[in-house]
Amino acid sequence: MNTISAVTGITNMSERVVSGMRPTGALHLGHYHGALKNWARLQALHPCLFFVADWHALTTHYESPGEIGHNVWEMVTDWLAGGIDPKQATLFLQSRVPEHAELHVLLSMGTPLGWLERVPTYKDQQEKLADRDLATYGFLGYPLLQAADILIYRAAWVPVGEDQVPHIELTREIARRFNHLYGQPPDPKEQAAARKRGITLENAPILTEPQALLTEASRLPGVDGQKMSKSYGNAIAMRETPESVTKKIRTMPTDPARVRRTDPGDPERCPVWALHEVYSPENTQAWVQQGCRSAGIGCIECKQPVIDAVIGETAVFIERARPYQEDPRLLRDIVDAGCDRARLIARETMREVRDAMGLGYV
Ligand code: TRP
Ligand code: SF4
Repeated sequence: MNTISAVTGITNMSERVVSGMRPTGALHLGHYHGALKNWARLQALHPCLFFVADWHALTTHYESPGEIGHNVWEMVTDWLAGGIDPKQATLFLQSRVPEHAELHVLLSMGTPLGWLERVPTYKDQQEKLADRDLATYGFLGYPLLQAADILIYRAAWVPVGEDQVPHIELTREIARRFNHLYGQPPDPKEQAAARKRGITLENAPILTEPQALLTEASRLPGVDGQKMSKSYGNAIAMRETPESVTKKIRTMPTDPARVRRTDPGDPERCPVWALHEVYSPENTQAWVQQGCRSAGIGCIECKQPVIDAVIGETAVFIERARPYQEDPRLLRDIVDAGCDRARLIARETMREVRDAMGLGYV
């Protein structure tokens, strides 16, 4: 079947989609409006595999792994709360499909060190996380492990944010090199015939070169107007209580020009407006624009529809998460089944990879 999906622009609905998230614990609304909503949309269109990159968490947190377990289950709960449907998508843990590690080690044999040292996140993160010793083998190998995560499922598409694009580029290079080194060479007669026409036939590929499916950055600001991020302490969690949502938005800074209620303001200079852009219907937005600029409404008044909308959204997440919190076994069953499904695909790829690399002698 070769249909064009109007929603994604992706051309073939049977093409596989793979993505992962490091287990950072409970997710916030930025994660939802950035990544998760996009995953939920894709799951209806393509076979999707979404996994917790728990080994990737260890590349930076190898000295303090205690939190990872808790974070894994909180995050999977939020995936389900955000509408990821285990009947449509396959949800699993990286560490439960050890074939990822096998592919990582086999790919590492022929991967030039320079390719890994050149990945921009390598030096960036080492500088950013200067309090940790990241001069480790595992950290250098982070993007190669990510390449294995993707190539093992022969994914065509990888929904990621902009920061991850260099990793997908590296993955493509790794796949190309692998196919060049180990792919099935063309039939010599066909090759000779092609050469006469000035063409060189390539090896039949074993691994698929994936493409990044760029996730539009969430326009949702944190409650201080900066980018929403757990580490900035400005996030609203997907399952934040209504009381806490109210408090956080009530105390949000507004246009600094509105010192007094009678001072007119400019929504463009106000982080609350960015929330209206995501959460409010057109008529409310018009009310804000007009009321703010004419000092016809106060900021507390202006914030109320956003508070109501966010509470409405988080209420859905809280409700969807409830069964999994009441019975964590449900969560484990979903992940168990997902791991089984993922492993079947991973095993099949590894059989071919081993054979191609001359390891088919056992
Ligand atoms: N590096 C990704 C991130 O930090 C997480 C990740 C690991 C991933 N393996 C992946 C994403 C494979 C997509 C595909 O967000
Ligand atoms: Fe911001 Fe609304 Fe206050 Fe204008 S009225 S400054 S948009 S909170």
